[in-house]
Amino acid sequence: MESKLVDSFGRQISYLRLAVTDRCNLRCQYCMPAQGADIVDRKELLNYKEMYRLTRVLSELGVNKVRLTGGEPFVRRDFIKFLEMLDFNDLLDEINITTNGALICQHIKSIEKLKVKSINLSLDTLRRDRFAQITRRDVFNEVYKTFELLEDSSLNLKLNFVVQSGINTDELVDFVSLTQHKNISVRFIEEMPFNGVGQKRINEVWDYEKILKNIERGFDSVEKLVDKKSSTSRNFRVPNFKGTFGIIPAFTRTICGDCNRIRITATGMFKNCLFDDGVFNVRDFLRKGVSDDDLKELFLSIITKKPKNGFEAEKNRASKVNESMSSIGG
Ligand code: 5AD
Ligand code: SF4
Repeated sequence: MESKLVDSFGRQISYLRLAVTDRCNLRCQYCMPAQGADIVDRKELLNYKEMYRLTRVLSELGVNKVRLTGGEPFVRRDFIKFLEMLDFNDLLDEINITTNGALICQHIKSIEKLKVKSINLSLDTLRRDRFAQITRRDVFNEVYKTFELLEDSSLNLKLNFVVQSGINTDELVDFVSLTQHKNISVRFIEEMPFNGVGQKRINEVWDYEKILKNIERGFDSVEKLVDKKSSTSRNFRVPNFKGTFGIIPAFTRTICGDCNRIRITATGMFKNCLFDDGVFNVRDFLRKGVSDDDLKELFLSIITKKPKNGFEAEKNRASKVNESMSSIGG
């Protein structure tokens, strides 16, 4: 049996994004409707043992990095215990987490002891009232406290800022200014029409180019950095600033060529691409009582169907993209 996950374009898959829940304590406008996205019955979610096993098998096929997402991972009961479980997997070099930061203050110390290298904290504004408007929850103070604690911790900190036309585009320069004295990376993400209610109309499109031009106007100069292969962001630094910033062309999809990732949703749907509609439910397969070799064979076979890029993936979908990022796993 072939022993590594390589797709038909020669891309070695080494990065798994695993959604540990579809639930969230916030209701971000760009992610879900006010009443929340449809959530599934608890028994339809993968349990921790299943997630551990899938990750272990994938790591034996060459995955060495896992990002835990949601929903909000810390909403799931005993998430820290799951992190400790994953930490046992000696084939993993890195575990990273994407979080909204509202529930994690008291856990930072225990996370620092694990293989967790970096935390992506979602933060789309520095204004409390605007934060409440975007997330429909008034928890800015908690999240800001998390921000400060993470900054002082040994973890690498990245801020995820979804650029929302007409909502927070006046704060791009302020966020880059945060990197003057803070060793953080701010990543500006093109908004995608995945808010659980179908494609939304955006009047003025803030794509990669527009975001960059707007930032460049705020500083004397901005230098381009060399991007790591498979990086989802194009990265920059304002000369002499401590931190860096990046722009993620999430929607314009100019980064697919070096894609090294796969996703598993909270219900065990395997996705070769953010834009596909799920190629196989590994949860149901697992629950049939299959062996690790069966699982390996399955993964090796579905990886050959990984589409060249996000446009191809979208073309092949049976239905239009109208999911919520909370079920896909940002
Ligand atoms: N467009 C872009 N990014 C999104 N995220 C969630 N929904 C969207 C969207 N519609 C990102 C947020 C968050 C991560 C979990 O997913 O940046 O940090
Ligand atoms: Fe929750 Fe993240 Fe979606 Fe906001 S974007 S509602 S924090 S899952």
